[in-house]
Amino acid sequence: MANTQRVDKILSNMGYGTRREIKQILKQGRIKVDGDVVKEGKLHINPKEAKIEVDGEWVEYKEIIYIMMNKPQGIISASFDKRVKTVVDLLSENYKIFDPFPVGRLDKDTEGLLLLTNDGKLAHELLAPKKHVPKTYYAHIEGTVTEDDIVKFEEGVVLEDGYKTLPGKLKIIKSDSNSEIELIIHEGKFHQVKRMFEAVGKKVTYLKRLAMGDLALDESLRLGEYRELIEEELNILKNR
Ligand code: URA
Repeated sequence: MANTQRVDKILSNMGYGTRREIKQILKQGRIKVDGDVVKEGKLHINPKEAKIEVDGEWVEYKEIIYIMMNKPQGIISASFDKRVKTVVDLLSENYKIFDPFPVGRLDKDTEGLLLLTNDGKLAHELLAPKKHVPKTYYAHIEGTVTEDDIVKFEEGVVLEDGYKTLPGKLKIIKSDSNSEIELIIHEGKFHQVKRMFEAVGKKVTYLKRLAMGDLALDESLRLGEYRELIEEELNILKNR
């Protein structure tokens, strides 16, 4: 049974819908494997050898992968760089062969949740400015963060280039000369969190992304560790 997988999982991984949706498509007799209609999602086949058809169209097998990484500092969010280590360099060869790329960027000195995939469509949906996917950050701030800052962030702050941000939801965890906060923003301008704090006269000294939409960083991943998303997490991202 080596190299075989359930047919519903293969189709779901290839972007034909959630397992539940695939179940419907199978029931409707729209899937053929090697010329025969298949109605059972649990049938095991080798996707690299079997000829799969959906609605009479042959589907070319391409493995789509989704990886969650706890990005460490000192690594850049790119696929390739001549000089500096990238997040893709951290992946093992069996993932690299699928050409994953990071979905959006975290600064070199930012830690936390980074998604890597070769699913261009999903990446585009998560990054499209119009979608306003919320991103949650945890940060250490040099300077006392106050209720006044909460109000300012709620109204949107004006960055040094004159851009007024969308409202951000600021939560103070600790308020003294080295404050701790959580911030939810709905856009992803370059250095956005750092620039929002600069706009209120404070400095981010440590930054970590905790969540993208409803997908939260698995805190059991140590810095630099990664794992594939489980089906529930993928559904969270796809059904938003
Ligand atoms: N905002 C920043 O300033 N840096 C990041 O890496 C992410 C958001």
